[in-house]
Amino acid sequence: MAKTAELIINGKSYKFPIVEGTENEIAVDISTLLEDSGAITLDLGYKNTGATKSAITFLDGDKGILRHRGYSIEELASMSSFLEVSYLLIFGELPNKDQLDKFSDDIKRHTMVHEDIKKILDGFPSSSHPMGVLASMFCAQTAFYPESLDPNRSAEGVYLSIVRSLAKMPTFAAWAYKNAMGHPVNYPDNSLNYCSRFLKMLYALPAEHYEVDPIVASALDKLLILHADHEQNCSTSTVRIVGSSKASIYSSISAGINALWGPLHGGANQEVILMLEAIKKDGGDVEKWINKAKDKNSGFRLMGFGHRVYKNFDPRAKIIKQTADEVLGKLGVNDPVLDIALKLEEVALRDPYFIERKLYPNVDFYSGIIYRALGIPVDMFTVMFAMGRLPGWIAQWKELRENKEPIGRPRQIYTGQNLRTYVPIGKR
Ligand code: CMC
Repeated sequence: MAKTAELIINGKSYKFPIVEGTENEIAVDISTLLEDSGAITLDLGYKNTGATKSAITFLDGDKGILRHRGYSIEELASMSSFLEVSYLLIFGELPNKDQLDKFSDDIKRHTMVHEDIKKILDGFPSSSHPMGVLASMFCAQTAFYPESLDPNRSAEGVYLSIVRSLAKMPTFAAWAYKNAMGHPVNYPDNSLNYCSRFLKMLYALPAEHYEVDPIVASALDKLLILHADHEQNCSTSTVRIVGSSKASIYSSISAGINALWGPLHGGANQEVILMLEAIKKDGGDVEKWINKAKDKNSGFRLMGFGHRVYKNFDPRAKIIKQTADEVLGKLGVNDPVLDIALKLEEVALRDPYFIERKLYPNVDFYSGIIYRALGIPVDMFTVMFAMGRLPGWIAQWKELRENKEPIGRPRQIYTGQNLRTYVPIGKR
């Protein structure tokens, strides 16, 4: 017998089907609620709302599980590459060697950016945050590839937009940084792999020989894998909701970049380092800062702590912490801020406030420390997150399109004034 849920509103009973996912998670399908009862649901921050059915990423926050297309994040981070994981997320299966070679070659063919986009870049003052510049350049692709605006684009056309997105993202990201430095931009060197190509564009200075450190490139590749997708988070839901209006892939992803920027989402990685630096400057009294985070009137939160879904541990944070140890060791970097981070984590994890609220370090807590060790400037941390999240956004945009999902349009409970009579300006 089909499982149902019963809801009684003002004494009248309504039945709704229960939908089950492949990992036995359940949802009450209330799609007929408004029509049947005249009521809507209210769920601020969508804490209990399933906005879609998706076959891309499975996440169990209580058990600390993260899987892409059925593969655990632990296996992918230790054995795969970022482009392989991108292929998996976007096309549903791990590629064989020929498929991966073709995907990688297709991406290499599109790494150059139209010179006129450089003119747009030149218009940004060097004080611009690279995230704003990145979002703008990404969206500007709609002007250079107007065919991407066609909502009925062929599968080949969509593939070309996907490849262009992945190919140009590192170029845009590196150029956003060069703009902030007031330096001339570098062009992509297609003899290099994805991360090395980005690093060379980021760091190389004119008239200087620049060799990419393979330790840095491989650490970056792992970091990008760890950020590649995370089901219906703020930026991904933004991409899906913008995409649901049949906006182009470039404008949908540009919206995702903007959503990621906020300090409660991807911007937290930048905030973590700023917080650790502030604690260091303040004398390193970790307890004082923990107390500040517990004081609701302070307006301060422990950045890199807590997660909407993970209530046990964030599996990405575990891998990143271990990677931070390895990378700092290999590069011979001794960062005093790491000691503060370790102490902060230790004290917070013993504190009833954090235990009761199930607040653990999230992916952003240690990622900033690695980025710093790799020489990546603080303003670029969230840009690195965006580079990593790109295949996830693409996969979710593609899935939404293939599933022919309806336009996203939530309801509201109106709490404003009732009907009033207009009073002309001189009589108010
Ligand atoms: N420091 C101190 N208290 C916190 C923190 C924190 N970092 N996070 C949550 N709390 C408290 C919060 O004040 C609330 O307490 P109470 O129940 O007494 O009112 C309780 O814990 C629940 O918090 P919430 O804001 O209702 O939880 P949420 O699920 O809406 O927010 C979060 C999740 C990630 C926005 C939040 O934990 C936070 O602001 N963390 C700091 C920012 C951060 O690290 N963000 C990166 C998230 S992971 C990367 C990504 O995917 O974006």
